[in-house]
Amino acid sequence: MTLIETVKDLRAWRKAAGHVYFVPTMGALHEGHATLVREARNLAGAGAKVAASIFVNPLQFGPNEDFDRYPRTLETDLAMCQAAGADMVFVPSVKEVYHADRSIQIQESSLSKVLCGASRPGHFDGVCTVVAKLFNLVQPDDAVFGKKDYQQLAIIRRLVRDLDFPVEIHGIETVREDDGLAMSSRNRYLSPAERAQAPALRAALVKAREAWLGGVTGSHRLLEIIHQHLTDHAPLGRKDYIALVDRHTLQPLHTLENNGLIALAVFFDKARLIDNIELVR
Ligand code: PAJ
Repeated sequence: MTLIETVKDLRAWRKAAGHVYFVPTMGALHEGHATLVREARNLAGAGAKVAASIFVNPLQFGPNEDFDRYPRTLETDLAMCQAAGADMVFVPSVKEVYHADRSIQIQESSLSKVLCGASRPGHFDGVCTVVAKLFNLVQPDDAVFGKKDYQQLAIIRRLVRDLDFPVEIHGIETVREDDGLAMSSRNRYLSPAERAQAPALRAALVKAREAWLGGVTGSHRLLEIIHQHLTDHAPLGRKDYIALVDRHTLQPLHTLENNGLIALAVFFDKARLIDNIELVR
């Protein structure tokens, strides 16, 4: 596996690489990320190359968010990438990616206004800008993202469509702990008591989906089910949002017939956790 730190070396690698599958990450890798790299490896087969990137992107963190204390675990990250089948990992410095006097960035004006975007202004513009830059740098043919960050995935699909990136986007199912908690680099911020309550997020979503499969389609009733479960089983959590939306446009739905998505975000003391579930027949 090749480790590349500069744009110059990346350009040289790209010229010789052929078909490239790409997995962008911010490091602090866990089994969810490893699954993305393995999936890229599977899709790539023997002929194509698998590239990953590890870059904690300052542009997507708000002033009061955790950029400085975002976990950085490069050595184990590289070992995981290698074990999962990456051929190359791009690990640039902030300086290598952003010019000090940079003056152009991408703005998304619809999908990023709801759900996580509503409470994290500018976050998805930062994501779009770095992903566009990484796509221009790595020039992948395919890229793999997780459904754990469902809104991000929908926005990346829009970015690719609206700006004509020649990249096929693959969405991968959320990888979970045995008790259902979605794997996240931020789970390590949970206290033992919070960790014990965190699986309630997934359980609440599953309960709502069961009700939906049983014929409950009104968003008000589905919301109530989730609320009640969280109140009973995750009292240490404070709701940021629970939303019932169309899974492509992310716009709110009053009745969930098909192609719905329930997404939620819950604050614990030092971690904000997100999860979602698709309502698809
Ligand atoms: P990061 O949070 O490191 O996530 C990198 C990729 O891993 C994303 O596609 C995310 O959806 C996926 N992922 C994280 N946890 C997962 C899980 N439990 N199951 C499946 N996939 C999971 O998302 C980012 O970084 C950044 O915003 C980035 C796209 C790299 C741009 O900076």
